[in-house]
Amino acid sequence: MKKTKIVLKCIDCGKEYEPAAIYRCECGGLLDVVQDIEYLKKNVSKALFDSRLKERKAPYGSGIWRYRELIHPLAGDADIVSRPEGNTNLYSHKKVREFAGIEDILVKHEGENPTGSFKDRGMTVGMSEAKRLGMKKVACASTGNTSASMAAYASMAGLKSVVFIPEGEIAYGKLSQALAYGSQVLQVKGNFDDAMSLVQESSKALGIYLLNSINPWRVEGQKSIMYEMLQQLSWKSPDWVCVPAGNLGNTSAFGKAFEDMKDLGFIEKIPRIAAIQAHGANPFYSMWKGNMKELLSVKHPKTIATAIKIGSPVSWKKAMRSIKYTDGVVEEVSDQEIMEAKAIVDSSGVGCEPASAASVAGAKKLRDSGVIDRKEKVVCIITGNILKDPDATINYHLSRIEGLKPAMPNKPTVIEPTLEAVRKVLG
Ligand code: F0G
Repeated sequence: MKKTKIVLKCIDCGKEYEPAAIYRCECGGLLDVVQDIEYLKKNVSKALFDSRLKERKAPYGSGIWRYRELIHPLAGDADIVSRPEGNTNLYSHKKVREFAGIEDILVKHEGENPTGSFKDRGMTVGMSEAKRLGMKKVACASTGNTSASMAAYASMAGLKSVVFIPEGEIAYGKLSQALAYGSQVLQVKGNFDDAMSLVQESSKALGIYLLNSINPWRVEGQKSIMYEMLQQLSWKSPDWVCVPAGNLGNTSAFGKAFEDMKDLGFIEKIPRIAAIQAHGANPFYSMWKGNMKELLSVKHPKTIATAIKIGSPVSWKKAMRSIKYTDGVVEEVSDQEIMEAKAIVDSSGVGCEPASAASVAGAKKLRDSGVIDRKEKVVCIITGNILKDPDATINYHLSRIEGLKPAMPNKPTVIEPTLEAVRKVLG
């Protein structure tokens, strides 16, 4: 890689640091990776990124490292830990279009990443930085997907990993991945926010590298969801990007990605971000709606979408910056709305876990209220694979979710092992 200067800069006081194993400024503010725009202007182009599309192997075969200069120009080839990830598809389906009432709505399926969620995009970058810094052990708190991703990437990198998860609150698909990939799993008696506080304290005290999205390199990796989407759309911006919002890493990353794209002259128009929260875990929505200066935590978050069951999102300041920069909005949706949107995404053949469907439920709600126009181009991010949380899917179809009336249940039928029984059922 050619010479470039990268610093970690505090988003509150502006103090700059050399890249190191730090996540907050002395003043407590979050840190941003600040790229060298002059270097980038000379060293990247749409043609360069288009030329790398033919690559099949890591690093450039990865939908993250394809944009290497924009993400982590300091990482050498030997540092990079890649499956490779990214290269997720955009889908258009009549059912989704009709459900949302939007003529040109696409879903980008991040569940197609190696461990089944978008987390792999930030994790490949965070884990590569852990290697570059010579760290031996990594940790994260998680509602499930981050832990699954970190466990896999740590094993690939040959590092030890420890995950802090809220006891009894994460979907089995995700827990099974963390166990299988070989992480040490600590089940914290508390919720995600408790686990998040504990992992920050523990990693500082024990010298473990922290890989939650408070780590600014995770955010750099997740910018690639937007770079890749724009490249798939021949570098033409959609009007809107709808994204499920929990700990707010993606919302933060997307605004930063659009800033890069605009500063480099890759796009003229900045897509508007719609961050969608679950009603029972909606502190960011309340802050935006109430025009508040600070985020007020939700003490007891509650939603069927366990991935976004978060009351005190760490990255709210960065996320609010993204919403402001893109003239975006924040919306909330109920569990009923999430599960109906999921049933639509599922029955379109794409499929997703509950939290992911918040983006489609939010697009519909914003269309119904007239914020999004029927003619606008909308991309919804599907954040996780359908197999992550089979319990939610089955309980929906068997009408077993308390307080929820499924509109599209698809119950299995038990039959005797005879042709007659089959005839009777099939008619
Ligand atoms: N969707 C899924 C499937 C997730 O796993 C997450 C976050 C989100 C959406 C929210 O994204 O935090 O960037 O706003 N899961 C984290 C985890 C918190 O630990 O796996 P965000």
